[in-house]
Amino acid sequence: MQNQARIKTILTAKPIDQDVTLNGWLKSRRESKGLTFLDITDGSCLNGIQVIAESTLRNYTSEISKLTTGCSVAIEGRLVSSPAKGQDVEVHAKKISVLGWADPETYPLQKKRHSFEFLRSIAHIRGRTNSLGAVARIRSRLSWALHHFFAKRGFFQIHTPVITTSDCEGAGDMFTVTSLDLGQIPFDKNKVDFSKDFFGRPASLTVSGQLEAEAYALALGNVYTFGPTFRAENSHTSRHLAEFWMIEPEMAFCDLEGDMDLAEEMLKYVVKDCVDNCPDDIDLFNRFIDKNLAAKLSSVLENDFARISYTEAVDKLTQSGQKFDYPVKWGIDLQSEHERYLAEELYQRPVIVTDYPKTIKPFYMRLNNDGKTVAAMDILFPGIGEIVGGSQREERYDILQERMKKANIPLENYEWYLDLRRYGTVPHAGFGLGFERLVQFVTGMSNIRDVIAFPRTPGVA
Ligand code: 4AD
Ligand code: MG
Repeated sequence: MQNQARIKTILTAKPIDQDVTLNGWLKSRRESKGLTFLDITDGSCLNGIQVIAESTLRNYTSEISKLTTGCSVAIEGRLVSSPAKGQDVEVHAKKISVLGWADPETYPLQKKRHSFEFLRSIAHIRGRTNSLGAVARIRSRLSWALHHFFAKRGFFQIHTPVITTSDCEGAGDMFTVTSLDLGQIPFDKNKVDFSKDFFGRPASLTVSGQLEAEAYALALGNVYTFGPTFRAENSHTSRHLAEFWMIEPEMAFCDLEGDMDLAEEMLKYVVKDCVDNCPDDIDLFNRFIDKNLAAKLSSVLENDFARISYTEAVDKLTQSGQKFDYPVKWGIDLQSEHERYLAEELYQRPVIVTDYPKTIKPFYMRLNNDGKTVAAMDILFPGIGEIVGGSQREERYDILQERMKKANIPLENYEWYLDLRRYGTVPHAGFGLGFERLVQFVTGMSNIRDVIAFPRTPGVA
């Protein structure tokens, strides 16, 4: 058995009056004038195909008339033009084999529309709904488009490690990886004795592949890594996951300007690719999830992103006359209410904020000449807030070492990172795009838990 004929292919090629075979799941069934109409989907596209079964089929009474939503079937038949409204082609079945039943008493997808909250409780089944199926197809397309974007520009993909002994963001929100018996943890003077652990020292799941990507940018020039990243922050928002995917390009001989240009070009490229290649799925979201989605997507494509410094952003926010829950003054980390005001109200398009205070950004960002700010950039999207975070990297050995010491970073774990500045250091820059936030933007889905197949959040795995 090989699943060659997908419904998408049949609906695109439309081999009228020819025999077709297809496999799929029943969305709905109705009987009329001695005929049974089956709506079959196979996940290849949003649309299903209508299959008509006559009562003369061998298993009509014993099986076909008992089919319910969710049953899986294999169908052989002839594709014909449909006389009725709603579809231009349909299949007149010659043979329908039931592959799997789905007990209507217990199969959870009976109603036409379920709440996303309910669907999260059946994550293993929800991909069969129109909306979550469309999310999965768009997600796949966006991933492909990202790889394509970088491949076309000669970037090399680096598979950076998932298990690491360094904390890239210096925030300490890491999941420990251990093979110690948690019932009998070895202690040495009240401290866990990691010398007895698998790696002989503390190890964690990575929060970012950046540091390792930097090593390969300083070998191959332009590289990117695209993998899962993990953060043990106790955030219960619609924009945070404990396990999320990040795409992180890193470029040697590149400054902040070049970094921003690449990020803007990349975002436009992948959004356009998706608009061009997933029109039916995007139309579904535009109709049922966010009526302004199409307009938002074209606004990203048609406008240059606004670019302002953090200091200008703080001025604009304080002059705005807006009442924010979290008051604005120079030195604070921008909160999501501030980010959204900038992107949604003030500029009504994506905004790149640069040159943040060094005190609120990680050690690796390049210190500006003012001694107070770093060459950082965050890209803020309407409806999302921060979608990209990046910077030019500190390539000067002395300054980097100084900043690491000030941040209490254990230098012995980062000698390899400092080596990159000892031997043939160059200006370089990169950024991280939160992949789920991109999928949220393109689909209009309001909760990040609904744009990844199996979301991991505090209390949920
Ligand atoms: O701003 P962040 O923390 O930057 C870094 O990790 C850098 N090392 C990236 C780099 O320069 N190579 O994260 C980058 C992006 C954010 O802008 C956001 O879109 C996303 O990752 N992100 C999250 N997405 C979902 N859940 C979370 N908990 C996220 N934390 C960050
Ligand atoms: Mg950030």
